[in-house]
Amino acid sequence: MNRIYTSADQLDFKIPDLPSLPAPGRVLMVKPTYFDVEYVINPHMKEHVGAVDKIQAANEWEHLVDGFEELGLTVDILDGVKGLPDMVFCANQSLPYVDAEGNRKAVMSIMRAPQRRGEVPLIEEWYRQIGYEVLHLNPEKTKSFEGMGDGQWHFKRRLLWGGYGYRSSLDAYEQVSALLDVPVVVLKLVNEKFYHLDTCMCMLNENSVLIYPDAFTEESLELIHALFDTVIEATQYEAEKLFAANATCPDGKNVLIQQGCTDVNKKLRDAGFSVHEFSTYEFIKSGGSVFCMKLLYW
Ligand code: ARG
Repeated sequence: MNRIYTSADQLDFKIPDLPSLPAPGRVLMVKPTYFDVEYVINPHMKEHVGAVDKIQAANEWEHLVDGFEELGLTVDILDGVKGLPDMVFCANQSLPYVDAEGNRKAVMSIMRAPQRRGEVPLIEEWYRQIGYEVLHLNPEKTKSFEGMGDGQWHFKRRLLWGGYGYRSSLDAYEQVSALLDVPVVVLKLVNEKFYHLDTCMCMLNENSVLIYPDAFTEESLELIHALFDTVIEATQYEAEKLFAANATCPDGKNVLIQQGCTDVNKKLRDAGFSVHEFSTYEFIKSGGSVFCMKLLYW
């Protein structure tokens, strides 16, 4: 049975008769002690090598921790590691899941950039300590997969959305689908400034999503419109400069987003969401914002 969907005409699946995917109640964050822009692996980093204000970054990060706690989420914190400046983007090293029987599992990433590969075993070690089953992709059958940077769970559904083109390879999703026994709707990314799915798509709730449309092919946009009733679109300015689509909505109601996304925030409020703004300017210098500064897990 084909469980990888690349175009809307293939969407034949029935919603399986399984308990729905619970909303995650926990958040992992990695301290930004060693965060900086030390190399260039995405276009946003180009002008910012060595230009992170460490004190400002620490403040922004602390506020975000508070923001998650205020929503009632439990925040687990790992120390940063010297020489791994991007480890703060802890959405990228893995994809966690809880199956219908309540077993917690994580698929570990194969990072595209050699500079980031050392982060993965450290996150794997953390998973082992908290009792997750750790799963690996076969590196001979896929080049790369960057966890929740490119994989997003459909809110409440056992359905994965997978981005590919820059960081994750399309063939990775066949393995992810088999390892976790879930269907995957794959979306092709075509604008290098939006190199991860989480830079151009933010799951809001079962029926709503926030996207930056120019980051996708027509076929991918059709898939998005086929599976969501409400598709909120970010403007180029807010998506590219403010990482509007790198927001996160852990509970289907509250959206945490970089501050200043005036147009998107109005659309979100009109659609019934509560908006909480955070400054993540120091992290945007490296190509990430609210979504990828944390890992939601069960
Ligand atoms: N500098 C990091 C990289 O290029 C930023 C990652 C941000 N994460 C994200 N999911 N957008 O890998």
